[in-house]
Amino acid sequence: MEKPQLEKLCYSTRQLVAEVGSFIKKEVGKVGLNSIETKSKNSLVSYVDKTAEKRLVSGLQARLDGAAFLTEEETIVASEGTYQWIIDPLDGTTNFLHQLPIFSISIALRFENKIIMGIVYEVNNDECFYAYQGGGAWLNDEKISVSSNLAFEDTLIATGFPYYDFQHMDAYFGVLRNFVERTRGIRRMGSAAVDLAYVACGRFDGFFEYSLNAWDVAAGIILIEEAGGKVSDFQGGNDYLFGKNIVVGSNATHNAMMETIGQHF
Ligand code: IPD
Ligand code: CA
Ligand code: CA
Repeated sequence: MEKPQLEKLCYSTRQLVAEVGSFIKKEVGKVGLNSIETKSKNSLVSYVDKTAEKRLVSGLQARLDGAAFLTEEETIVASEGTYQWIIDPLDGTTNFLHQLPIFSISIALRFENKIIMGIVYEVNNDECFYAYQGGGAWLNDEKISVSSNLAFEDTLIATGFPYYDFQHMDAYFGVLRNFVERTRGIRRMGSAAVDLAYVACGRFDGFFEYSLNAWDVAAGIILIEEAGGKVSDFQGGNDYLFGKNIVVGSNATHNAMMETIGQHF
């Protein structure tokens, strides 16, 4: 796809995401206990996630004919294709259900194994973070970039605490302890897509988490890349889309984080 076409598609997908975001916002506080399903330990879902996903899928089908989908709630059968949409219709479901105002929609477009567009819409702030290949990274109409290369002691780092896979707790807490002692602080927002978007615009200097899925990180990956940041898996390699763990940051922060992560994982 040529750059102008991709830019147009990104623009129209942003409209769709904003519409679905208004639906999600209207449902805050309305989901009764009986409407919450537990998919697996601490992984919750309600009609809000599923309805949002269905609306996104049909809107995207109308925008790009024949593209495949990989979606968290599986309202459409996952398939592979030259173009594939990777969707998390509501990232931060636990926050949403507890009426904590940090949750987002995360949508990415993959072309032959490369993410070429990503949108993270933070619903309550009406903040749309987006990027497309070669087009830079944006927050609403402002260009964004990762923070400058601060000394590690001046950084603010985000993470997600393990909540179902407790195999690597010692390693994880080893890293966390080191970062708690050496940085300005640690945050746990509850939406990995928001964490990544916040690194892309420099609010956070770095982010790391394990046990993530492709739909949690796909859009954030291109946001970070286009915002001039660095992305890797915990081994320093490229297996961060499906490899379930990710480290991002400005160049210096990423390097500092990797030194410690490498010692523990
Ligand atoms: C979760 C959020 C959370 C992260 C979890 C994800 P969900 O996504 O991104 O921040 O720690 O690993 O599963 O389930 O709310 O879409
Ligand atoms: Ca998610
Ligand atoms: Ca989700």
